Amino acid sequence: MRTLIKNISVLAGILDEEQYWRAGKAMSRIETIEKAWLLIENELVADFGKGNAPEKKAVEVIDAGGGIVFPAYCDAHTHLVYAGSREDEFMYKVMGLSYEEIAKRGGGILNSAKLLRKTSEEELFRQSMERTHEIISMGTGAVEIKSGYGLTVDDELKMLRVARRIGETTPLTVRTTFLGAHAFPEEYRNNRDAYVDLVINEMLPAVAAEQLADFIDVFCDRGFFTPEQTGRILRAGAKHGLQPKIHANELASSGGIQVGVKNHALSVDHLEYTGDEEIAVLLTSETMPTLLPGASLFLEMPFAPARKMINAGLPVALASDYNPGSSPSGNMKLIMSLGMMQMKMLPSEVLNAATINGAYAMGLEKTHGSVTRGKVANLVITQPVPGINYLPYAYGSDLVEKVILNGRVAASRS
Ligand code: NIG
Ligand code: FE
Repeated sequence: MRTLIKNISVLAGILDEEQYWRAGKAMSRIETIEKAWLLIENELVADFGKGNAPEKKAVEVIDAGGGIVFPAYCDAHTHLVYAGSREDEFMYKVMGLSYEEIAKRGGGILNSAKLLRKTSEEELFRQSMERTHEIISMGTGAVEIKSGYGLTVDDELKMLRVARRIGETTPLTVRTTFLGAHAFPEEYRNNRDAYVDLVINEMLPAVAAEQLADFIDVFCDRGFFTPEQTGRILRAGAKHGLQPKIHANELASSGGIQVGVKNHALSVDHLEYTGDEEIAVLLTSETMPTLLPGASLFLEMPFAPARKMINAGLPVALASDYNPGSSPSGNMKLIMSLGMMQMKMLPSEVLNAATINGAYAMGLEKTHGSVTRGKVANLVITQPVPGINYLPYAYGSDLVEKVILNGRVAASRS
């Protein structure tokens, strides 16, 4: 099957060479072709170019109508499998309680765990599929989904099975992460190490036996898992072949970045509290700093120092953190806008951060995240807009005309 996309005003995000992330100054480079066409063959990008489109080669033709085409978003950090919602906590926060105070009162992650344990796998799948269809229609083509609202062996497995099923039943590319160490359940309040033992000795082997996870995560932060506990869990994960992608430095300079890098994390995520020492450690590593400005916006926390990181030569990825407590949105275009508004990133930098660097942060850099011959044809076609810089600028507008995943139309406005 050959599909041609013609009438593209700007084809953006082209990476021709074997380049798997963009760091430092190169983060502001976006290769484009104006007045372009793109040919898809067998789900992959076969060819693209400027000027007259090779219509004879195609069986199907999609007219982009003068819209922009760019790589579908690669959202490398979400918790989109969850039950119910937590809008009341949002209200309490506005009334003056902090995220940590809400968590201490049995709200937060434990509240979602209570709801999830009561929800059947089928119902959890149904609720999660609504969010899945929503993010596809907004232009996401690949996503990482974490467990971490089960906090028992059975409920963690339930979450991961649902996440895997989303990948099997939709055109979205899904990578899954075991996050049993997301919070300490009430029963372990006074014996936290016993919960760490449960994660290592029971949850992890069960997750590995069913091959339900690609990565392992720990919420390493003040009031949650210590760097020592995190190290233990990550070393146990490595024995099952799970590379870390961890939550670090969201609430304090917790030592999370260091423990992540030491354990060869593919990414360390959040990083609101990152100083010179952490930047120096990241510069010695192949770990992708993954920033989640949606959580900073929603929780009224500091934003991660993206500008400082990029100026120091680091790459950064941007992800949505889609979850019921700290970022109830999977809108990657809004995340790009926040990258500009609150982190002083450039339009080209936010696009690289949301595509190729996000792909790297889930181990998909060889197949996703750029317009490259031989990569999966995951593309967004926009409505006619003045140029690529317009996308993060028009922060409240959707602007998506069509989303192409695996070479086929997965969502269409008309
Ligand atoms: O990434 N920080 C830890 N986990 C989530 C929040 C989860 C929740 O509040 O439900 C996060 O922000
Ligand atoms: Fe998160």
